[in-house]
Amino acid sequence: MFEFLKSRNNNTSIDTLPVTTDIHSHILPGIDDGSPDIETSLQLVQGIYDLGIRKTVATPHVICDLYRNTPAIINDALQKLAAACITAKINISITAAAEYMLDDYFLQLLKSPAPLLAIHKNLILTEQSFASATDNLHHIAFEMVTLGYRPIMAHPERYHFYHSNYEAYSRLKDMGFLLQINLLSLTGYYGKPVAKAAKYMVANNLADLVGTDMHHFRHLEALKDKKSLHIFDDLLGKKNWNDLDAL
Ligand SMILES: [Fe+2]
Repeated sequence: MFEFLKSRNNNTSIDTLPVTTDIHSHILPGIDDGSPDIETSLQLVQGIYDLGIRKTVATPHVICDLYRNTPAIINDALQKLAAACITAKINISITAAAEYMLDDYFLQLLKSPAPLLAIHKNLILTEQSFASATDNLHHIAFEMVTLGYRPIMAHPERYHFYHSNYEAYSRLKDMGFLLQINLLSLTGYYGKPVAKAAKYMVANNLADLVGTDMHHFRHLEALKDKKSLHIFDDLLGKKNWNDLDAL
């Protein structure tokens, strides 16, 4: 009987992601390296809706030399996409924040009186360069926490400079960062060392949040893949992820 239950479970079709809220994506049209236009944005939104997402926070890059997205630019793109979703009858809640690169420009923003764009309440999504670790990370985290923000480190598993030292993930948490892993990291989409690091964080309760970090159709197709959905269910299915009020 137990064997029967086991095999039935293995054959169960899983059609949705293990979350209904996404907190990291590049679905706003034309303002970063994500969706280039409103038609693409709509198809990406329809895709994650079909995977069970009912609330999504778009997080366009804010990077000194590449994407100096202001709140006005981001809000304008958000309004366009939200209106297009209503017209297309996609019943999803879309808000916007940003994914802030921890560069000198971010330090300027931190010092300016204008508030940073939050995922939810005081939660701020940040990222580092993939090339090298941020020198003054302790200082930046301290400044953010002092100002009342709660920083989230986007995809810590993707930074190769942590792969030889998993203790670094605990140090990030000591600094005040919540850790957000990319769903596709668990599937090997970004390579084996990234998958290993992501699984380590999930297994050791270091991961606080998950996100799609969806930029384009290749990401959507990889998320929809049946093998991916089973991996997400196996590794993440037992916890209520992305309950922002509970953080
Ligand atoms: Fe991102």
